[in-house]
Amino acid sequence: MSCIPQPRWSRRQVLRSGLALMAGAWVMKPHEVRAYSRSSLPGRPAVDKDYTRWALLSDTHVAADPEDRYRGFFPYLNFQEAAAQIGDKLPDRVIITGDLARLRGETGAYENFKTLLAPVARQRPIHLGLGNHDDREDFFRTFKNPIAADQAIENKHVVEAEAGPVRLIVLDTLLHVNGAAGELGQSQRSWLETFLRRCDSKSTILFLHHTLSSDLLDTRPLLEIIRPVGKVKAVVYGHSHKYEFSTDAGIHLINLPATGFNFTANQPVGWVEAKLTKKGGEFTLHALGGDRQLDKHTQKLVWRA
Ligand SMILES: [Fe+2]
Repeated sequence: MSCIPQPRWSRRQVLRSGLALMAGAWVMKPHEVRAYSRSSLPGRPAVDKDYTRWALLSDTHVAADPEDRYRGFFPYLNFQEAAAQIGDKLPDRVIITGDLARLRGETGAYENFKTLLAPVARQRPIHLGLGNHDDREDFFRTFKNPIAADQAIENKHVVEAEAGPVRLIVLDTLLHVNGAAGELGQSQRSWLETFLRRCDSKSTILFLHHTLSSDLLDTRPLLEIIRPVGKVKAVVYGHSHKYEFSTDAGIHLINLPATGFNFTANQPVGWVEAKLTKKGGEFTLHALGGDRQLDKHTQKLVWRA
């Protein structure tokens, strides 16, 4: 893939991209959600350090009923505990790759989610992706996303941001609420392909909900887009409720554990703390339940050249 010297955005696309970026990072104050540009984020860490620390979560599955229980797990309590740990560690950013809600979205679930994360959101940008158990309208209604009516990609919630030595792109694979399958779709793939042609070499990590090896309908065209783009170093996702590392053509594929509950007893429930540089990353599991064998274990990865 050849890169283009200047992004060929139309005026409307530039506007949309900017709004998407601003909307991608939100910081909450009591009873409100506000969007900030990168330059105005409160508590924004220094940009000149050579690493960034992120908290990575997936499949929180918070329900409107805090006592909702599945397989012996209470997702509300798990997320409460994870949020407290993240508040103590206060990483530079938090990224959550979808299935924020229990089954079908619902504003009550998102209100609980927002309340639990409020102490962190007052201090750090948080980027949220959507999964197959999220509802885009309920999500936008709760988080008051200013681009809900004018998104970069129609019916998709896409976020791009830079944090120190790394760029993150959160993609949207929500296809049907409460259906297993997911899809990026042609328009989002085209946007991604164009976006990645920008002439820079910043290490880039993609985030999406669906496991690449199952249930994502357009895994193959996605891989065909990113394999030749050397700055794409990793793809991070959830959905399977398994904690796994693998590779494709040198691209690290990182399957996050679920924070809400596991599907099988041999999988941890928790979140992952990542320390990222332009050359690699260290991923440390914080297990809250399930199989805790890998609790505090750090997986070190080196990015492809
Ligand atoms: Fe899930």
